Parts: sequence; C-alpha cells; structure tokens
Amino acid sequence: MSNESSLANLLKEERRFAPPAELAAHANVTAAAYEQAASDRLAFWAEQAKRLSWQTPPTQTLDWSNAPFAKWFTDGKLNVAYNCVDRHVENGLGDRVALHFEGEPGDSRAITYAELQREVSKAANALTELGVAAGDRVALYMPMIPETVIAMLACARLGAPHSVVFGGFSADALATRIQDADARVVITADGGYRRGKPSALKPAVDEALTRPGTENVRNVLVVRRTGQDTAWTEGRDLWWDETVGRQSDRHTPEAFDAEHPLFILYTSGTTGKPKGILHTTGGYLTQVAYTHHAVFDLKPETDVYWCTADVGWVTGHSYITYGPLANGATEVLYEGTPDTPHQGRWWEIVQKYGVTILYTAPTAIRACMKWGDDIPAKFDLSSLRVLGSVGEPINPEAWMWYRKHIGADKAPIVDTWWQTETGAMMLSPLPGVTTTKPGSAQRPLPGIAATVVDDDGREVPDGAGGYLVLTEPWPSMLRTIWGDDQRYLDTYWSRFEGKYFAGDGAKKDEDGDIWLLGRVDDVMLVSGHNISTTEVESALVSHPKVAEAAVVGATDPQTTQAICAFVILRGSADAEDESLVEELRAHVAQHLGPIAKPKRIMPVAELPKTRSGKIMRRLLRDVAENRDLGDVSTLTDSSVMDLIQAKLPGAA
Ligand code: WT7
Repeated sequence: MSNESSLANLLKEERRFAPPAELAAHANVTAAAYEQAASDRLAFWAEQAKRLSWQTPPTQTLDWSNAPFAKWFTDGKLNVAYNCVDRHVENGLGDRVALHFEGEPGDSRAITYAELQREVSKAANALTELGVAAGDRVALYMPMIPETVIAMLACARLGAPHSVVFGGFSADALATRIQDADARVVITADGGYRRGKPSALKPAVDEALTRPGTENVRNVLVVRRTGQDTAWTEGRDLWWDETVGRQSDRHTPEAFDAEHPLFILYTSGTTGKPKGILHTTGGYLTQVAYTHHAVFDLKPETDVYWCTADVGWVTGHSYITYGPLANGATEVLYEGTPDTPHQGRWWEIVQKYGVTILYTAPTAIRACMKWGDDIPAKFDLSSLRVLGSVGEPINPEAWMWYRKHIGADKAPIVDTWWQTETGAMMLSPLPGVTTTKPGSAQRPLPGIAATVVDDDGREVPDGAGGYLVLTEPWPSMLRTIWGDDQRYLDTYWSRFEGKYFAGDGAKKDEDGDIWLLGRVDDVMLVSGHNISTTEVESALVSHPKVAEAAVVGATDPQTTQAICAFVILRGSADAEDESLVEELRAHVAQHLGPIAKPKRIMPVAELPKTRSGKIMRRLLRDVAENRDLGDVSTLTDSSVMDLIQAKLPGAA
C-alpha cells in the first residue's frame, strides 16, 4: 500500500469515550506504565516476570543474540501448573472458585482452586503412568468442559507440550496435527453438547489414528461427557474417570527452564499446510498474566471473568487457561452455543454468575445485533464493568451496540489486537486510561513496540496507512514454527528487515492511534487505490438495515478490482428490494467517497465463516469471479455456499 494511493482516512469516526471515573480511580494500571516501559522496556518485563513464582528467578531478561529466535528469562526455572493452581492454594485461596462450569444442557459445577489442584495432580499422575515424560507431545480433542483445562494443566505440569485441536475440526485435520507434532497420547471425550444434542468426538479420533504417521499414539484417554455409545480399542483406549480417578491427588511439580516448550497450536491458515506455532514457558506466562491483569483490570477477589472463546483457539489458551488462572481469577467456562436453548443464553449466564468482565468476538456481537436488542434487555447485565473484543476488526456500529446494549453505555470496551503467533495481547486500550474510539485497537500495550510501515518498511506518518509490524521482540512471541525454522523466517521476518510482519493492513489516525484494516490479502486495488475490505464493511454495517457485511475485490477489466459486497439484512428488510441495494451503494459512497462505492451488492442469508468465526473472503471471491469454489473444509457449514451461489444471476 503506497501512501499516495492508500485511502488512509476514508472512515471518519469522531465518537470518543473517556474511561469511567470510578474505574480510572482504582485501575490496576495507569498511564505511568507506558512511561515506565518506554524508559526501559526490558526492565519493565523483568518486573512483570515477578508476578510469577519462579523456582529459580531469572537473572537475564532477553537473549536476542540469535535473532529472530528469542530467549526470554532464559536462566529462570518455573512450573506453569504450580503458578496457575498450587501457589494460590498455598496462599490460602483454596476455597476460591476457579471455574464456574456451565454445560449446554444446564448442568453446572463449581471447581475451587483446591479441587483443581487435586484434579490436575491426578491427571498428571495418570499421564505419568501412561509413560508421558517431559518433552513428549499430547494431543487434545475436547469439548469445552473442565477436564480440558485440567488436561492442559496436567501436561504443563509434566513439561509435556500439548497440542489442542479444536473439537469442530475433522478427522483429517486432527490426523495432520497428530502427525506433525508426533503425539504420544490423545485426550478426548465421548462427545460434547452442541445445539441441544450430544455431538460425538471419539469417532474422529478413531479415524485419525488409522492414518499413517499416527502410530506413535500409544493411548487414548476418553472423558465420559455425554454417555453416548463409543467404539473401543482394547489396550489403547482408557476411560478418564477410571484411569485418572484412581490416582493419588498429590503430585510434586518439577520446575522447567523458562524456554521449555509449553504448547504447539496450529493456525488454520487459509492456504498451505497448517503452521505449528510453538510457545514456551516463562515469557508466555509473564505476558498472558500481565495483559490479563492490565487490560481487564482484573480484581481477582471480586471479579467474575468470562471469555466465550473455545479452548481450541489461542484465545482460550491464553485467556481461559493460562492468564486468568495464573492471576487467581474466578471464571465461567461455558460448553455450548450462544443460542441454545434460546438466543438469550449468554445474557442469562452473565446474570446467573454476576459476570463482571466479558471477552468475546465481533462475529458473536454481530449475531446478537441481528437477533435483536430486546433479547439482552430481558436480563440483568448490570454486573458487567469491562468488555473485551478479539478476533477481527470490530465495526464501529457493532462496537456501539456492544457498549449500549451490553455495557449499559458505561463499561469501557477493550479491542485487543493479537495473534496465535503473538501469544498474548499486543495492542489494546487500557480501561482506566484510554479514551476509546469505536473500531480502533489504538496503541501498543506497555512494553510492546508496534507501528505501521509502508511498502519499503518506513514508518508512515500519522494519518497514513500501510502494514502493521512489531519492531521489538516481546515475551510471549512464538519461538518458531514446529519443525520448520525456515518457514518461521520466511513467513514473519523476511518482508521487512528486522521487523515482524503481522500480515495485517493498518492505518494511523491523526492522533497516532492504530486502526486495523484486515489481512493484507483482503485489501482491494480499485483504479489504483488501495481500499480496505474492513472499512467498506463497516460503512455497510453502519446502515440501519444491515446486520453484517463481507466485501471482496473481484477482477475487473476496467478498474483492476471491483468492490463486491455480500450483506445480511436486519430482521424486516426485503432482500429482493432493488432500491435498497441502490441506497446501500449510495450510503457507502457518502461515508467513504465515490471510489469505495461497491459495484455489486448481494443480500444473502448467511456468510461463509471459519470455525473461529472469520469470514472466508477467498470463497466469496470465487463466487464473485464465477469460479469453482476452492477448499471448503474449514467452513462451519458448507451449505452456506450453495445458498449464496443459488442467488447469483445465471444460477440454475
Ligand atoms: C488475526 C489473528 C488473537 C486471538 C484470536 C485470533 C485478526 C485479531 C483483532 C482485533 C483487528 C484482529 C488479525 C490477526 N485480529 N484480533 N482486535 N482487531 N483484527 O487469532 O486466529 O491467530 O488470528 O486475527 O487479522 O492477524 P488468530
């Protein structure tokens, strides 16, 4: 994106929201943190590492001598599970609830830190009995139940890196990940509850283990969740309740090097073989604990925190399992979907547990907008005091809806930008400090160095757009791609000399605040101008009749690419109404300028999304360019594409 051609400030967003005075007065982190970190970044992180209990405290902070392969706190030793569980019990907090589990069918279970310590110890003893030793990989393919968190912590306790594979993925995806990580044990469940019925998991494990390259899996440990019939391989398969159930509930954790591998997590990626992102111990835990404390203003004595993500994504790793538990938080863990058995289920949970901090994704917020304002209005949401967003740029109108209908027009919204690769939050407002702007992740957190550069890697001035880069190493950064150092170098460090290339387009506004514009692959080139899909989508969503929009650039003989929009209309709007399409085109032109006016707008009933909720623009581009569809295997629901194609002119 060159400066001249980028429409850096297409979207003018002038709304501003100061932090609530009461929150600011007692905030965990104040503006001083930025200054402190800026004066000595490494001293700042060395200070944050003291949030953890180290068996051997580190004397070194960063070893960057083999850049870009980082080592943080390299001579320190610690145990992650001890930090997330045992030390809280030793500090007299054993009776505090760690997890409020809410099953989809309505069953619930509160697990205190003392119980969590016993359960994690038993699971660690069971894995030891199965021959799992430090360094061995364990694959997890689980529903959202307490045993998932327990299993992750048991692996961490033994220094056995886990590889969690999202329970919605196919046997194929699971097999590839088991092969690549060369896992020794798989932990799964008979099934989990999804949309009101049991959904099996074990058959996919059985199928995956018939594939070549998975022979090293010795055992499959199966949690009984749904009680459904489950095929069994004698000698290999073991029930969790029997094998874990009979173990001693005492286990002495061993301390591992700060750079000992903690987990591998595969990014689904839109192209190519999935990348096994490797995270290690000390730096990762330091940054997830610090950011969870700072960005959510967590007060562990009184807050009830809830992150709605699945543990199969990095958000679940960092902000369900490791960050909150390292901080001794009380949190909700919910198994199911937001609309089962009714569209108010989430708000019912907020009311039931008095949730004070909610962390969710724009795709979920837009779904709630579509279902209607009256649904959250039926519940008491007054406990909520901080709202988080992650996963995609949040459209300003979705941000406003979140603030008004969920946050009672006062809870600050923290829009957190980060990636599987970054391990923890990187850009975000601070709830007691930042005057927020709807749709902007605003600035790097204390201790983080990020900016926006042009094609030649030069920092752009305020008011211009380009690429988001990270200019200094950070504690929770990925250490490599599992088994493929070269791919690590090529993917992240070759585009701009000495800088980490995040793959996202971004712009700086006149105040220097950063706005994310979507993946670079999603930026369109129209008559010599770079136009961000995110901005056109946000302009569409700002029209009262539009609930959701996805925009792609389709090859066009006149303009290189032409803007093509797919929109989901709100409740009563008529999808066949041609004048509405005209109105929407004019609306975008008015907001962003005539160059951004979509050539085509197609109302559709659904949009194709990955299982983590991201719109698959690649498939929409195939549709817009009348091509056969590429790989649809990572879609949540592939029939969505049939519906969209059936609507096209010329469709049978
Ligand atoms: C990509 C990373 C971070 C955990 C979940 C996703 C997009 C993420 C934001 C945000 C704008 C965002 C970026 C990023 N993204 N958060 N607040 N604003 N974009 O992890 O699957 O590794 O995806 O998600 O495009 O690169 P992931």
